[in-house]
Amino acid sequence: MVKKRYAAALAAALLFLTACGGKRDETIRVGVALYRQDDTFITSLSQYLQQIVPEQEEARDVKINLNVVDGRGSQTTQNEQVDQFLDRGYDVICVNIVDRTAAAVIIDKAQAAQVPVVFFNREPVEEDLNRWEYAYYVGTRADEAGRIEGGLVLDAWRADPGALDRNGDGVLQYVMLEGEPGHQDSLLRTEYSVRTLTAAGVPMEKLSNNAADWQRGPARLRMQRWLEELGGAIEVVFANNDDMALGAIDACLDAGMTAEEMPFIVGVDATAPALRAMEEGTLRGTVLNDAAGQAADILALSCALAQGEDPGAAVELEDEKYCWRPHTAVTRENLAEFLPEAP
Ligand code: GAL
Ligand code: CA
Repeated sequence: MVKKRYAAALAAALLFLTACGGKRDETIRVGVALYRQDDTFITSLSQYLQQIVPEQEEARDVKINLNVVDGRGSQTTQNEQVDQFLDRGYDVICVNIVDRTAAAVIIDKAQAAQVPVVFFNREPVEEDLNRWEYAYYVGTRADEAGRIEGGLVLDAWRADPGALDRNGDGVLQYVMLEGEPGHQDSLLRTEYSVRTLTAAGVPMEKLSNNAADWQRGPARLRMQRWLEELGGAIEVVFANNDDMALGAIDACLDAGMTAEEMPFIVGVDATAPALRAMEEGTLRGTVLNDAAGQAADILALSCALAQGEDPGAAVELEDEKYCWRPHTAVTRENLAEFLPEAP
């Protein structure tokens, strides 16, 4: 009896050892440096990254050690974090760079340590990325988001110009919440959203613009001010991300406006709270910034690089460096496809 129990325990132990053995002995160490953890879109991207780790571990039969750190908006802090990853012998580093013009420093450090570096969401200038073969970028095309954002307004104009052009002067009066100065998404979304309408022959008049730094609070304050100064003259609010669109909506709600009374407000990202605002009818449209897709690409690329495989086989690369995820328009008509499934 005792012997039998002993044998069973031994068998269980052996099974356990086999399950943990094999290639699982290999650990890939991935360091992820975020520009700011409190950014809504970046939070969701980082959550997706952690969620898909088990999938990649399974597929590659390795253990993945993902260490995510917060740069709190300081390039100096982020450089120190990158130094630590390199000192500790990480296999690959993923950088959501604070200052996109400062990539050369990080690329040179990575090259010296021979550790591949994957930038994401905040695009380094091309010249910097070209400094080293093993520097990559995962993101979305900023002009494309702008075109789709403008397209949301254009479609509404075409369907019912009178509903947008409230003062009936044949011109669309708008305000622009741009996002952080110098960010590729601020610059190009601003440019291409408006250009999409003017190219289609819609006369546009900018009433005002503000950076609002991707954030809901500052956007709300700015919109409050605009409502006081410009009032009903604002027909469209372009917000280059959803948090700023939600801030503009907050201000309209504060002012006692109903969804119908608000200007036509559009955003970018398709974050969870933005999709809820679309259900409520306050946000009129947004553009999916595919956080899950970008997270999948970042991890697949990182693992391939860490294991010395051809990165072009893991993800689709342009110029052997750039991995792009497409955007999708989110409208009232297709909203259901983007809402999380009911539990
Ligand atoms: C943009 C996104 C913004 C913000 C920013 C941070 O792509 O639309 O919401 O997260 O990146 O770099
Ligand atoms: Ca007008």
